[in-house]
Amino acid sequence: MNILITGSSGLLGRACRNSFSDLQPITCAWNRATDGDLKLDLTDKDAVQATIDQHRPDLILHTAAERKPNICENQQDLTRALNVDATRTLAEAAAKIDAKLIYLSTDYVFDGQNPPYDVTAACNPLNFYGETKRAGENAVLNASERHIVLRVPILYGEVETLEESPVTALLNELLNPEPHAVDHWSIRYPTYVGDVAQTLSNWSQQLKSDPECNGIYHLSGAEAVTKYEMVRTMAEILGLDHSHLSPNTQPPSGAPRPQNSQLNINRLQLKTAIQQTSFKDNIKRILKPFIPAEA
Ligand SMILES: NC(=O)c1ccc[n+]([C@@H]2O[C@H](COP(=O)([O-])OP(=O)(O)OC[C@H]3O[C@@H](n4cnc5c(N)ncnc54)[C@H](OP(=O)(O)O)[C@@H]3O)[C@@H](O)[C@H]2O)c1
Repeated sequence: MNILITGSSGLLGRACRNSFSDLQPITCAWNRATDGDLKLDLTDKDAVQATIDQHRPDLILHTAAERKPNICENQQDLTRALNVDATRTLAEAAAKIDAKLIYLSTDYVFDGQNPPYDVTAACNPLNFYGETKRAGENAVLNASERHIVLRVPILYGEVETLEESPVTALLNELLNPEPHAVDHWSIRYPTYVGDVAQTLSNWSQQLKSDPECNGIYHLSGAEAVTKYEMVRTMAEILGLDHSHLSPNTQPPSGAPRPQNSQLNINRLQLKTAIQQTSFKDNIKRILKPFIPAEA
């Protein structure tokens, strides 16, 4: 199977590159493209079409996006161009050659008022990021009946910098000795990118022979925690002091967020083996290289 991965320099894209390495996927990145990658600006419609025509993938994992809600709010044209227009171009180009596309989407398509959310639940995004991801979903589903939307919640994994994931960025809260409050309002389901990538790899084996695999699916980590609870767990497993941190029970500032957008993963569980590894084990391994010697 010929696989193309967009966003292969990103947090999830790198994990997918690893999980699909046996199949030698074609990988596309932009600013961080390395020697093994196609350097492709997904907002360049002609370049996207030419790439699809040249490589003719059977399966496209479309992970590239602008995913930081505050950046999306402040850079709306760029965000729309990548999250919506580029997604439409890719999905339509894939449909023309009968390739299947899996579009990575988000729990932020929901307003968080009525969890858990089934794949058929009504969407009501609260911020521009969620709006563009929902519009991207529609573009994908309109382009082909065979395409798939996979929604996931907050992601973490092997980061290049702590800020790359909103979960690993929490280590900065622990290391900052000033007394301050951490979000204890939103209930999150931290999801390890290695689990998403491994589940996608398992699932991709079945996709060719199962024409019923299309439409919307959900995948999520199993543990429900606030950011304050994640920080407490990090402190405990890394032996760090957390007495300067307090729980903030008010909604966070910045772009509005859902309070609890728990995803019901039943539909995907019926299709394939889902990997859900432990937050504690993963986060200990991932954060260790970032702990200063004197901490
Ligand atoms: N991270 C989360 O917590 C989270 C939660 C729910 C859903 N998701 C969804 O999961 C997917 C993966 O997220 P992620 O955290 O892995 O994202 P990420 O780390 O921010 O990576 C984004 C990727 O998009 C690429 N990209 C940006 N602009 C591009 C352009 N003009 N042309 C081509 N590529 C471009 C980047 O390439 P360069 O860096 O090389 O420019 C990078 O590889 C996204 O669709 C996101 O919406 C993420």
